Amino acid sequence: MHYGGDYNPEQWPEDVWPEDIERMREAGVTMVSLGIFAWSRIQPAEGVFDFDWLDRIIGLLHEGGIAVDLATATASPPPWVSATYPEVLPQDENGATYWPGSRQAFAPTSPVYRSLAAALVTRLAERYAQHPAVVMWHVNNEYGCHLNLDYSDAAQGAFRLWLENRYGGIDALNEAWGTFFWSQRYGSFAEVFPPRKAPYSHNPGQLLDYRRFTSDALLECYLMEKEIIRAARATQPVTTNFMGAFKPADYWRWAAEMDVITDDCYPDPNDPESFRASAFARDLMRSLKPDVPWLLMEQSSNALNWRPTNAPKAPGQMAALSMQAVARGADGILFFQWRQSRAGAEKFHSAMLPHAGTDTRTWREVTGLGAELAALPELPRGSRDAQVAIVFDWENWWAIENPDHPVALDYLALVQRWHAAVHRKHTQVDLVRASADLSGYRLVIAPQLYLLPEDGAANLRDFALAGGHLLVTAFSDLVDEHDRFREGGFLTQLGPLLGVRVEDFGALVSPGADAPGQAIAPFTGPFGEVTGTLLAEEIHVETATVLGSFAGGRLDGRPAFTQRAVGDGRAYYLATIPDAAGTASVAGHLLAEAGIAPVVGGLPERGLPETVEAIRRGDVVTVINHGAESAEFALAGTDLQSGETVASVTLAPFEYRLIRES
Ligand code: GAL
Repeated sequence: MHYGGDYNPEQWPEDVWPEDIERMREAGVTMVSLGIFAWSRIQPAEGVFDFDWLDRIIGLLHEGGIAVDLATATASPPPWVSATYPEVLPQDENGATYWPGSRQAFAPTSPVYRSLAAALVTRLAERYAQHPAVVMWHVNNEYGCHLNLDYSDAAQGAFRLWLENRYGGIDALNEAWGTFFWSQRYGSFAEVFPPRKAPYSHNPGQLLDYRRFTSDALLECYLMEKEIIRAARATQPVTTNFMGAFKPADYWRWAAEMDVITDDCYPDPNDPESFRASAFARDLMRSLKPDVPWLLMEQSSNALNWRPTNAPKAPGQMAALSMQAVARGADGILFFQWRQSRAGAEKFHSAMLPHAGTDTRTWREVTGLGAELAALPELPRGSRDAQVAIVFDWENWWAIENPDHPVALDYLALVQRWHAAVHRKHTQVDLVRASADLSGYRLVIAPQLYLLPEDGAANLRDFALAGGHLLVTAFSDLVDEHDRFREGGFLTQLGPLLGVRVEDFGALVSPGADAPGQAIAPFTGPFGEVTGTLLAEEIHVETATVLGSFAGGRLDGRPAFTQRAVGDGRAYYLATIPDAAGTASVAGHLLAEAGIAPVVGGLPERGLPETVEAIRRGDVVTVINHGAESAEFALAGTDLQSGETVASVTLAPFEYRLIRES
């Protein structure tokens, strides 16, 4: 179990370092991420490198028994880089430059940036590949953060090359993007631009490819550095820190290139429901590489600095959120950052060692958690415990949020709504791609799978035929990988399985004074009362059974929720987007129909509050109380921390237990 944080010794005089190390030992720190923003300290000018200080601090850490996750320091080029090579600077869609003076001002496709970064990483890797303190490589930092999309000239050149590689010839691009529309036909790749500011809507295929290109360009930067590290014969695991569900980077594709998944996560301590979003992020991180434990690479010990207002964490909340990660497969808890900065934009951001010193609640909680983690026995690795999977797909995310649709959808929020519904029922859930191996699941929920490639559709179909319960929801299976409608209407691939045909989408819009409309579409059934929102599709039932019909309004009496027995399984179609309560009702119905038990059998019936999580990691069940009230419930096993045999558990707010089931 790793414990530690980002360590920025370059911000401090060297006489502070020995005290840092002493305090780290006191706090139970086992590993620090070193040098993430130290490029200007390592290379103060072109061709000038100073590794002496880095040698000294790595040596001190090593002597102190603290391992190093060594950063490649390429995340924030020093001012001399842009002063000498202004072409490395990124641009927004209007062509305005993002200037230096903050951090991360580089165009990921800039050849100059890449060659300067490569030179730096080469020196670092050659120097430290064999150093016994270095146990991991931390490439760059949060790729794509701050600048989601870059529209610079470097990006333009790289985008054209990327398109040429993808399509081979310009005719194939024209066909994919449907460019006879609005006279957009291209004569050559040299005529194509990034989707910079234009008079009106861009071509949706172009927007989608720009997203793909951006994710790939960032990944290329990572791979370039990783290859340099490997070429120096470094054998440590290589990673870069993810940011939960982060739209610009398709982490399904990235995960294959990570030796270890690492994540940064900053739930708002002031939002009593924010633990659900962090639960989602942690489930995603485990799902990205299920057989390898991941690390929570950054979280805050207490308050942040970057929200408009930054509430402190409540007593115990930091540890409860840490355990939420451990329970979901994390083998390490780290923070931004070790010692609170004295200067700079993040001086109000909490740290493991606060500016106010060690006689502080933060320090007591940080040292307390360090001791607890150190005392934990080894936890099961790579256990696959979920029977429910929710489909979450980046390409779909990009395409479904293109403009000019019947209604604007926030894809992540809709996926999280299903996750929260299952989570509230204390049921374990994974995130998957439609094309993943689904054989271990009994229920697959596929919200708003607007862009559905053939392999994904076939896989979902096979899952249901093989005995799975599959839920497909409104606005799914509409377009191919180029964001073009498929021939033959809508739901063309899954319609026969579901036994329904979609005629139209029926956006639900609030009634205005002059334009009567319908904002919601209610329906009821064995699952209870459900309020449909955003869309109420006109569907025709061909071979399915209707479970619920819209009541009132435009679609009065028309099917809202259907089911069809297929092979050994069942395929459900939901012709609308339920609100949160309705999502919970539908999820509860499906869990029951699929015979899926909560993590701890019978918990809901025992009155376990929704604010208590129960998460399984092999034979270890972690229960965490994120609510404001105490909770007591039956749970038999061995308490991993006290070693005692227990039959029931009482949890005060933010308390948790790890129970090895008997
Ligand atoms: C992260 C970043 C850290 C620090 C932190 C503050 O996005 O990687 O360097 O800025 O946020 O919360």
